[in-house]
Formats: sequence, C-alpha cells, structure tokens
Amino acid sequence: MPAGARIVSIELSPDHAEIARGIWRHAGIDDRASVVVGMLSDGGATLDALEAEHGFGPKAVDFVFLDHGKDAYLPDLELLLERGWLRPGTVVVADNVKHPGAPKYRAYMAEREGQTWRTAEHATHVEYQSLLKDLVLESEYLGPRGGEHSPSELRSPRPRQSGSPPRSASCRGSPQGAGVGCDGRFSPYR
Ligand SMILES: C[S@@+](CC[C@H](N)C(=O)[O-])C[C@H]1O[C@@H](n2cnc3c(N)ncnc32)[C@H](O)[C@@H]1O
Repeated sequence: MPAGARIVSIELSPDHAEIARGIWRHAGIDDRASVVVGMLSDGGATLDALEAEHGFGPKAVDFVFLDHGKDAYLPDLELLLERGWLRPGTVVVADNVKHPGAPKYRAYMAEREGQTWRTAEHATHVEYQSLLKDLVLESEYLGPRGGEHSPSELRSPRPRQSGSPPRSASCRGSPQGAGVGCDGRFSPYR
C-alpha cells in the first residue's frame, strides 16, 4: 500500500469482519485497514457511517474492489456513484464476473465503454483450480457525461456505442492497488 493509503472494508458478517481484523493485525496494517459491518444497500446507514466515521466524501475513493454478492456489484457501484465518491481515474476491480457471474455489471460496463468507463477484461480461472474459467474486470471511471450519474439515468442505461467494445483480456497492466484484498470492496487511498 502507498504511504497514507487506507482500506475500508464493508462486510456483512460480524464473524468475517473479526477474521479480517485478525489478518490485518498479523500483517501489521491494522492502523490503515478497518472494516465496517453492514452493507451498502441497507438504506443509507452504512453509507452514512462511511461518511461520518471514515472520511468518505466527494471524489475520496481511488480504488474499489468488488468481491461480495455478485448481484450486488452493480447496485452497490451505483450507490457509490450517486454519493459522488468516485473521481475520474478511480479504478474498480470486480472478481468472478464470469463465474459465478455478474452479467448485469458486465453489460453496464460494456454499454459505457469509452463514455464513462474504460474496462479491461482479464481472463483467469476460479480460485484453487484451473478448469473453471473466470473474468476479472478492471474499470477506470472516466467521469460523468451528460447527467450519466443522475439516479434516473443509472436505472436506464444508454445503448451501447458502436466501435468501442470492451478490451480483451490483459490489455492493460495490473490495476493500481490490486492485491490489496478487502472483503468489503473499496479502499479510499489518500
Ligand atoms: C468471497 S468473500 C470475500 C473474500 C475476500 N475478498 C478475499 O479475497 O479473501 C465474500 C464476502 O462478502 C460478504 N458479503 C456478501 N454479500 C455482501 C454484501 N451485500 N455486503 C457486504 N458484504 C457482503 C460475505 O459475508 C463474505 O465475507
């Protein structure tokens, strides 16, 4: 982690949160990593706590790691956008997009390729074996375009623009901060 970086993990399970804290203590980074027990889609309580207690605010988030409920990837990303916490250059990495799969998230990124997001799809396989194919998506936020992130537009995505398909596997280098695994999906680097 770069100097001054902080990781905040959002974890539904208090037991898993406690395990994460133990790992960070063991790794000697518990002064820079914290976990909030909750979920982004709980009606605002967790988002408000992130703002009030963890310094989240406009353009504060540099890196997001999505590795929780696959159906939650897209709605949770939209909540972060609605709060205005992402900035042009924020990188979002999503695991397991092919298996078990996050098809709505993948389609969202494809529809916005070159408009508000630029995505590289990295071919990989599911952990602990080499048979099941998987995809990790690395998406750079390019910033809002024409009301892109008003709540109404978020629910009605623009049709995909021709000539801007998502880039294929490994067409870019490793995402900044990748490997900083956090159960809860995002880490504001300051
Ligand atoms: C695949 S594990 C994360 C593994 C971790 N990234 C790692 O590499 O070790 C998924 C975690 O997400 C949590 N989870 C599931 N749905 C969630 C949600 N909507 N919000 C927050 N956490 C959630 C689960 O309790 C579980 O601990």
